[in-house]
Amino acid sequence: MTTDRSPAPTAASTLPANPRIFSGIQPSGAPHIGNDLGAIRNYVALQDRYEAIYCIVDYHALTSTHDPDVLRTRTREMAAALLALGLDPERCTLFVQSHRPEVTELAWLFTTVTPVAWLQRTPTYKEKRQSQPEDVNHGLLTYPVLQAADIVLYKASLVPVGKDQAAHLELSREIVRAFNGRYGETFPEPRAVHTDAPVVLGTDGARKMSKSVGNTIEIFAEPDVIRRQVMGMVTDTQRILRSDPGRPEVCNVCRLHRFFGDDYEEVWEGERTARTGCVDTKKLLAARIIAHYAEPRERYLELMADPAGVDRILAEGAERIRPIARATMDEVHERMGLR
Ligand code: TYM
Repeated sequence: MTTDRSPAPTAASTLPANPRIFSGIQPSGAPHIGNDLGAIRNYVALQDRYEAIYCIVDYHALTSTHDPDVLRTRTREMAAALLALGLDPERCTLFVQSHRPEVTELAWLFTTVTPVAWLQRTPTYKEKRQSQPEDVNHGLLTYPVLQAADIVLYKASLVPVGKDQAAHLELSREIVRAFNGRYGETFPEPRAVHTDAPVVLGTDGARKMSKSVGNTIEIFAEPDVIRRQVMGMVTDTQRILRSDPGRPEVCNVCRLHRFFGDDYEEVWEGERTARTGCVDTKKLLAARIIAHYAEPRERYLELMADPAGVDRILAEGAERIRPIARATMDEVHERMGLR
């Protein structure tokens, strides 16, 4: 892992004096290294610099996950994963979206300032229409409105996310502008904060690493599974013979070496000169990923052995931010002429 876990710099001058951080993650399966490199390590870094609120978005997950037991289990697993990777309930707030249901009311109110056309052109909506054509539910269309409500219910202005969330973030900003334009300056316009790996490609080397594509390297899988996932990675497709020089800059295995270990330049040089082959480079990467996550993996297993402890942290998190959510809703009711 690069030692620099800091986020990309932002233009602090245009931010509120003490910006609040918010981000959300779906409990839709095992977390993968794309989640960590693209977002979670920034969640961890930012909890020391700002007031940070992190949310496991179970309402969002309902647009694709319909089994109650699966959703419950994955929600707790995601909480344990985030804690194991370094979120500290003393330094940030971690909660489950449905435990602060004010967000659904705000999302409804936001639908009344959001033209349907904005939602229909959202890339993820178009993708989901293709990937789950038998289940194009209304939640998929309004998904970004709920995401905007997530962020601004807490008046957060910085959002650590991967690049894949760019369109959602832009829509959040448009919704905030539409609301502020109609009812007066109420919410800050949220902006994304990226790591130095804003898009992590999957094991196919072609598409972004994603649970739904099935091209992931799972953080908390058994070492054998991680080894298998890494050994199955697509490398530089032009390197056919072992003696062919490699092109590390286009090889996803080599690119990932930048984040695991501190000698990626040497690894790249070995590839370029054909001193090392793709298999060696993959074996080394697998070993490093396994070592990198060995401690978090132990913590994860400990946390999962104490589900009541994890649930307590989540319940306290939701309670802690209740006053912020209530204050925002009171202000919104006043501005919109409700109650
Ligand atoms: P989700 O659950 O798909 O992903 C969680 C976080 O991981 C990042 N990420 C990646 N980053 C780089 N490379 C990848 N291959 C990669 N895959 C995932 C995502 O960008 C994200 O930061 N819609 C959101 C959840 C959400 C949310 C929010 C986020 C709901 N409300 C409010 C921010 C603020 C999502 O589905 O993320």
